[in-house]
Amino acid sequence: MKVVLAERIGFCFGVKRAIDMAEEALKKYAPIYSLGSIIHNEQVVRDLSNKGLKVINGLSGIKKGAVIISSHGLSPDKVNKIKQRGLRIVDTTCPFVANAQGIARSLQRSGYKVIIVGDVKHPEVKALVDFASHKAAVIKDKREAVKLRIKKSDRVGILSQTTQSTANFLEVVKAVEEKKPRELKVVNTICKDAEERQEAARALTDNIDAMIIVGGKNSANTRRLYEVCVSRLKKSYLAQTELDLRKGWFKSISVVGITSGASTPDWVIKRVIQKLALYAKNR
Ligand code: F3S
Repeated sequence: MKVVLAERIGFCFGVKRAIDMAEEALKKYAPIYSLGSIIHNEQVVRDLSNKGLKVINGLSGIKKGAVIISSHGLSPDKVNKIKQRGLRIVDTTCPFVANAQGIARSLQRSGYKVIIVGDVKHPEVKALVDFASHKAAVIKDKREAVKLRIKKSDRVGILSQTTQSTANFLEVVKAVEEKKPRELKVVNTICKDAEERQEAARALTDNIDAMIIVGGKNSANTRRLYEVCVSRLKKSYLAQTELDLRKGWFKSISVVGITSGASTPDWVIKRVIQKLALYAKNR
């Protein structure tokens, strides 16, 4: 059984930057907290926790130290609350996410009805809504867009969660366009890494028999990659680590492809490759 890696694999720029910043901060400040997971990968979060990072879900009881804002960004209201408590902020918001936040804010301030294409429960999207003064509508897909109430007099501005698929984003744009609002402003805020990663995975599915998508179960871009792969190759499987692999998946498989979410460390990918090599050897 041959193993082929997708061209784009491992950490993206934003995740690597966030981890580097957290590692640096851990050397300088104590106590140090992260509001939610700094990135959506359990192994990385566990590693940082072992080095002293405390993951919290709220600020209650936190009186001193530093708070890390995750790569997904944070609502301006919450940032203010951290400041009001006199806590130090280590802001690891990915610059591409920060760009989307600025666009959400400026569209809302310019009088557009703001639509964000994304997952309403994801921390990045929650913060984007708050950057649009809590007034944005979040639309998951074309089906939801069709149901959206838009008046002919509306000026609509659409942007995207950075890790969405371009195809889904364009379908939503088309559905909104068909409602013929007075003005429609579309800003594609999908991050290049997410787009290129999906493209590389899509291209790989043409030449393999099964695909493993390695990544955190809460990672939006990992899920998106899985959706892209499984729509083209039924034998596509999600694995957080090598422990999720099942021997039965690889029965009569000659070539297996591997891709990973943007927050998956290289060492996790390496262990998946080693386990596959073991399966191949013991056939
Ligand atoms: Fe940033 Fe794109 Fe990664 S938005 S965190 S570089 S997937």
